[in-house]
Amino acid sequence: MIHQACIACGEKYGADEILYSCRRCGDLLEVKYDYDVMEEKLKKSDWQSLPLSVWRYKDFMPIKVSSKIVSLNEGGTGLHSCQRLANLLGVKQLYVKNEGENPTGSFKDRGMTVGVTKAVELNMETVICASTGNTSASLAAYAAKAGLQCIVLIPSGKIAYGKLAQAMVYGAKIVQIRGNFDQALKMVLELSEKHREIYLLNSINPYRLEGQRSLAYEICDQLNREAPDRVILPVGNAGNISAMWKGFTEFHKLGLINKLPKMTGIQAEGAAPIAQAIKKGSNEIVPIDQPETIATAIRIGAPVSWKKAIRAIGESKGTAETVTDEEILEAQKMLARSEGLFVEPASASSIAGLKKLFESGKIDEDEVVVCVTTGHGLKDPDIIMKISEKPFEVDAEMVSIEKLLGLTLPIPATMVSG
Ligand SMILES: Cc1ncc(COP(=O)(O)O)c(C=O)c1O
Ligand SMILES: [Zn+2]
Repeated sequence: MIHQACIACGEKYGADEILYSCRRCGDLLEVKYDYDVMEEKLKKSDWQSLPLSVWRYKDFMPIKVSSKIVSLNEGGTGLHSCQRLANLLGVKQLYVKNEGENPTGSFKDRGMTVGVTKAVELNMETVICASTGNTSASLAAYAAKAGLQCIVLIPSGKIAYGKLAQAMVYGAKIVQIRGNFDQALKMVLELSEKHREIYLLNSINPYRLEGQRSLAYEICDQLNREAPDRVILPVGNAGNISAMWKGFTEFHKLGLINKLPKMTGIQAEGAAPIAQAIKKGSNEIVPIDQPETIATAIRIGAPVSWKKAIRAIGESKGTAETVTDEEILEAQKMLARSEGLFVEPASASSIAGLKKLFESGKIDEDEVVVCVTTGHGLKDPDIIMKISEKPFEVDAEMVSIEKLLGLTLPIPATMVSG
């Protein structure tokens, strides 16, 4: 039977109980399955013949009634073989799993399709989240699709414009707080505890993370049922690395893959409590009061899923690294110019992390690496305007354009023959 359980004390809760932490000890919850039951269900299912998408993995998801699924056609994103970039970096084989190809332009859609479906199953009418931008864009879209009210709390002036525009156009009630993401998260938690009619869809809600496991399943399926040696991804609130690890271990448990990847989390230097803990060999994080980075999506000082993330990194024999804003922006440009993939700064941190870890000898050149790029570059065009060389401007005359481009004028035919 599907149920929820505490990751620390193991206390069990019913699948339909609405709670965001363990009532006994306060720790995080996770969704649990009976994998024998799942295996039987999979044997009778045609899932392997379905196209790649989150809902190809319906039999893995904690959803009861298919007719209630709220979908915008999420998942099925490209796993791009990036040989040109691999050559530039010195590694042999590199893939980029480009989550910007999702309906609202980020991996959050994988979680929201499941989370909002759960909200509908539970007959909730209002959903809420705190967000650095992408979560609010995604929740607002899925809430619109489901006909639910949506409230989002965001740090004022600290989210990328494209994301704010998304939440606005999808009709969410947007509250900008004069504070940071960590404060916004605390407030939505309190609000949804106090006003039980409001359903919280941050990654503290274990159902949302269940959808994000599909990211791991897809990578294995795209690699012909093999796990890569290593997965590198940006880490903010740390839900995604936890969800992906759960996904890989499940495929392994079910005999669908025969090895597991090393989970490697990358954080921006000014917002890196998990990477710092890993570097110190500590199992506890020290939250950061004033996190800072241009990668606003991962500008988080007190990641809620830190314990799950540290477990994932430890169990998988992975690691964590920090990268500077400069390294992030350089990686963003490098990926765009060598592979034609435009990702937002937070996403580029996975490439910057690979570069740094490879150069310091912590990643072997023979490893098959998958970098996850979590969000589309168009979400944050401002940063490109600030850092890129400006376009040229000339008069609308052929001669001016030729001069600018350094094109020599063809020699007239009469002069050649004469
Ligand atoms: C583009 C992008 N990358 C990475 C992350 C971090 O994901 P997580 O909070 O699950 O660690 C986020 C979270 O908002 C994001 O929007
Ligand atoms: Zn507990």
